[in-house]
Amino acid sequence: MCGIVGYIGTEDARGIILNGLKRLEYRGYDSAGITLFNGDDDTFHVYKDKGRVAHLEEITDFSYRSVLGIGHTRWATHGVPNQINSHPQSSDSGRFFVVHNGVIDNYKELITSHLNESVFASDTDTEVIAHLIEKFSYRMSVSEAIRKTMSLLEGSYALAIIDTYNPYKLYACKNKSPLVIGVGDNGVVVASDVMACVGYSDKFVPLEDKTFVEIDGATYRIMDIIGKVVPHVEKPIDVDYFNIEKGEYSHFMLKEINEQPAVLRNIIGAYFDGDEVLLNGEIQQAIRDSDRLYIVAAGTSMNAGQIGRELFEKMAGIPTEVHIASEFAYNLPLLSKNPLFIFISQSGETADLRAVLVNIKAKGYRSLTITNVKTSTLAREADHFVEILAGPEIAVASTKAYTAQIAILAILAYGLSDKHINLRKELSKVAISMENIIDKRDYIDKLVKDYLTKRNCFYIGRGIDYYGCLESSLKLKEISYIQTEGFAAGELKHGTIALIEQDTPVIAIISQRAIAKNTRSNLNEVKSRGAKTLVIATRGVHEPDDQIVVDDVYELFSPMLTVVPAQFIAYYAALHRGYDIDKPRNLAKSVTVE
Ligand code: M6R
Repeated sequence: MCGIVGYIGTEDARGIILNGLKRLEYRGYDSAGITLFNGDDDTFHVYKDKGRVAHLEEITDFSYRSVLGIGHTRWATHGVPNQINSHPQSSDSGRFFVVHNGVIDNYKELITSHLNESVFASDTDTEVIAHLIEKFSYRMSVSEAIRKTMSLLEGSYALAIIDTYNPYKLYACKNKSPLVIGVGDNGVVVASDVMACVGYSDKFVPLEDKTFVEIDGATYRIMDIIGKVVPHVEKPIDVDYFNIEKGEYSHFMLKEINEQPAVLRNIIGAYFDGDEVLLNGEIQQAIRDSDRLYIVAAGTSMNAGQIGRELFEKMAGIPTEVHIASEFAYNLPLLSKNPLFIFISQSGETADLRAVLVNIKAKGYRSLTITNVKTSTLAREADHFVEILAGPEIAVASTKAYTAQIAILAILAYGLSDKHINLRKELSKVAISMENIIDKRDYIDKLVKDYLTKRNCFYIGRGIDYYGCLESSLKLKEISYIQTEGFAAGELKHGTIALIEQDTPVIAIISQRAIAKNTRSNLNEVKSRGAKTLVIATRGVHEPDDQIVVDDVYELFSPMLTVVPAQFIAYYAALHRGYDIDKPRNLAKSVTVE
């Protein structure tokens, strides 16, 4: 959460930073700020306020030349979103400016132990960092003062720092929060995500925890906390600029829903040779060697993990558990003798997952990350990783990553199954069927207009459809703010049915032949109590009045299909309410604080 961008070089720092911040706005967007060096008269200027990067752009002075700056887009943790709490934060005398992504757990203790005399302008933990650096800089070099500060900080941080006494240097450091440096012919970018470097840098270096980097326009030096130079490798940036733009679509979410068939075909192209699965043998072996799989994830990725459990258990006969990362991190269940941990994360940066990874690595357990970002922390730090190849997902509401994660889980499970289906053909069928749903999106738009008129809604289903309901309800609530829950249909009459009143919207997902009748009877129960029902069913189990009918596919893959109308339902519900679909309130795409 929070995005930081810094630049030093010979190009226009303001343009690079503002553009970078726009690309990182998915990380948080309640306030934004920038500090720029005015090369014309050797002064520094700060522009910051509550609101989006577009507002920051309006309040930024474009009249002078600037080749050094740092910027921030915020997701508030300490202090309400307002002008004063926006970053950059500055030190006592205003000598140092700092932008920060992360949370400093011991900032109050640091005030008591080191900064009793300081006066603080903001409510942020970040301001403490700026004050500490300044305090230490009176008796040591700036590099030492920053590293000394790092040694005192507990928690997570990615920082970009400017010393106004020296406009020829930019400093950065990190622990737990992601930070990369982008290297190009005309300068160096530091950023929370490589996306901010695209177009300005050809190569990038992901920084390790507890490293510090000192940059002048042309060169940089990465050090550990005691100042010893750390070896590093520059990697090529291969993100396509086109992929991070909306193109003809009004929203990234709409673009990403529509991209799902292409993503699935991309996965098929990359992970199959003819009808045979192409997978790193070591990964297959790691799964084979384990006596139980522990899937650890959050949000949508956890919902994909629930389908993953069905796939591993039903296709490959491997016992599998699914855990919420934030719970698992501090409440380890009884583990089997040879567990394999599978981390599923679109971003590969979710702090809750990282906490588990660090913990299980320390205990010597093996791990596999399934992610969309091959350069991410979780991809780098796990023993193995598999890329879901969904292309950049920008909208906060995850769509194409979910279906891509399920496809990858199916490929992993299939490798260890009796191969009773032709996986390539089955996945190709799903891609075609997704297109059939996408063609009907105007019809879904109309349905939503008449149907979702209340402040609440329920999704119900059984078995694998229940997990589909969890994902479908998460989509609807996070962008339309309609209070939506997904329920196991049979569980309704054990309490929740008390909430059903005249015209309460209830959406049922029905795709499994063996339990379709049971869900239908639960649907009748809510109908008799006044609910307004809508059914998403597969052709094989549909009934004449069902509103949305999708093609039949291999039953365990039906969640990849039934979720597509649910994604459209969420999209149009938010559109009709006039909400900011790609950046829903209070949320951020990449949750890098625990
Ligand atoms: O990047 P990750 O997959 O680890 O993110 C996990 C969740 O934060 C994420 O899926 C979140 O629930 C989405 N906003 C859902 O659309």
